[in-house]
Amino acid sequence: MRRPMVAGNWKMHGSRSANEALLSDLEQGLKPEWPIDVVVFPPNVYLADAARRLDGGQIRVGAQDVCAEAGGAFTGQVSASMLKDVGCQYVIVGHSERRRLYHDDDALVARKFAAVLRVGLTPVLCIGETLEEHEAHLTESVVARQLEAVTTMSGVASFAQAIVAYEPVWAIGTGRTASPQQAQAVHAHLRSRIAAQDANIARHLRILYGGSVKGGNAAELFSMPDVDGGLVGGASLSADEFQQICAAAAVCH
Ligand code: 13P
Repeated sequence: MRRPMVAGNWKMHGSRSANEALLSDLEQGLKPEWPIDVVVFPPNVYLADAARRLDGGQIRVGAQDVCAEAGGAFTGQVSASMLKDVGCQYVIVGHSERRRLYHDDDALVARKFAAVLRVGLTPVLCIGETLEEHEAHLTESVVARQLEAVTTMSGVASFAQAIVAYEPVWAIGTGRTASPQQAQAVHAHLRSRIAAQDANIARHLRILYGGSVKGGNAAELFSMPDVDGGLVGGASLSADEFQQICAAAAVCH
């Protein structure tokens, strides 16, 4: 009932020639009959090229971040309407690298989420606990707080047009994946928190898992009932790996 999604966050990787090679390999590897949504998130400077290149095909394009403001004197920033203008359909907000390295706090992430919705794009809200929080058994309270910052500002109904990605910080780029059972427990917790406010929105909400997803572990993760696909970093830079992950998503529910 929920269409699986595989999202490739390229982070600060790529070049015109590397992107072209990756996208053309990927287009050849994906099967049109796979019932999944596939999205790539290149760095901002490549978004327009990627969107043009992929227009009308199976792969959609999203941005890795956005400014919370609609426009004006904000040097270096890019607004949600600009991302829409160049062909993006999705925007990641609250990625842990933004939270940790660029001080995106819960309040700013909530404003970015609202800015994306305002222009009619789909926010991909990243939440997840750090290693310290994980070891202190604070996972549920941390992700609940991160989620609540957004529901308080935009309302639970906004999740009809949003995607959530659970990305435990200790699993990102470390090769250490949450076990399928760990991911399932957090995803089920998140869904139940949304369900407490609106059962229908919760039932349809896609919750992706991110953190060292690879071709070899995707099927097991995606077999969990509340894991609706993946937000993939490193493995999205290899057409082969990414395609294997998409193949796993295509048969998961
Ligand atoms: P890795 O898949 O490289 O662990 O990155 C996950 C991530 O941060 C995706 O947004």
